[in-house]
Amino acid sequence: MKPRLLLRATTFAVAGLLIAAGSAFAKDRKECDRVYKPSVGQPGKDVVWVPTPDELVQRMLAMAKVTPKDIVYDLGAGDGKIAIAAGKLGATAVGIEYNPDMVKLAQCYVEAEGVAGKVKIIHGDIFKEDFSRATVVTMYLLPELNLKLRPTILNMRPGTRVTSHQFTMGDWEADETAEIDYRTAYLWIVPAKVEGSWNFRDASGQQFSVALTQKYQKISGDVTAGGNKQPLVGATLRGDEIRFAFNDDKGVTRTLTGTVRGNEINGTLRAAGGGEVKVSGTRR
Ligand SMILES: C[S@@+](CC[C@H](N)C(=O)[O-])C[C@H]1O[C@@H](n2cnc3c(N)ncnc32)[C@H](O)[C@@H]1O
Repeated sequence: MKPRLLLRATTFAVAGLLIAAGSAFAKDRKECDRVYKPSVGQPGKDVVWVPTPDELVQRMLAMAKVTPKDIVYDLGAGDGKIAIAAGKLGATAVGIEYNPDMVKLAQCYVEAEGVAGKVKIIHGDIFKEDFSRATVVTMYLLPELNLKLRPTILNMRPGTRVTSHQFTMGDWEADETAEIDYRTAYLWIVPAKVEGSWNFRDASGQQFSVALTQKYQKISGDVTAGGNKQPLVGATLRGDEIRFAFNDDKGVTRTLTGTVRGNEINGTLRAAGGGEVKVSGTRR
């Protein structure tokens, strides 16, 4: 045999052996099912186990725009299906589950689905574990559990996306909803905290002050520019992105688009039909 052909034949043989060895050691889901078979509706610590249908799982992750850059936490992970689906999108995912048998089953599925490098299922209580590093939180719990988690979620990094199957967050209205087969998925984006009085200065030296009131992602307020006070127009807040418009002392409509970082807002101020200048604000 020519050396080149010999090399190719050897490569195929080695690859074949590796695949055979891999399948001998890799778990498959049937094997996991022999270890523990949960039943839908079985009791859990704070809520029973009912899995989210596959199509809705995909929809929740799509609403949250999950990418490989994300860290997804599923609170009450059940058989790990949401964490596994997030891992298959390339995200790092962690499922927190209280029932130790479910944890073992979910871990087995993680291996069987080939996402062990991306997905972890941890045994813990969602009210005790720290999930503050999540960029996306998913859950299928109960309305009162969502409400109990709400203060923690509202303290997460602005821009964190939260999706819930079926249950709402009380008076914190969702940013988006989707319905599949009479089931609803909700999306919230954690808003930056912007309430208070702000002093702004643009690159041309003009100054104005803004008083903002806030209820979750809904904001409103007044601007004082050149001694005139007037309401802000079209004020919106999405995560850490803020936007509002007002008329300056010459009657020109200006639109501010900025990013909130704690007690600072930095962005641009665009005049209707005119140019754009940089603007920055500090909370008093
Ligand atoms: C309705 S199931 C949802 C499972 C999965 N997230 C899904 O959507 O397919 C809720 C899960 O939360 C678990 N659970 C209940 N209370 C919990 C707690 N305090 N901490 C962690 N997990 C909990 C239950 O055992 C159950 O597996």
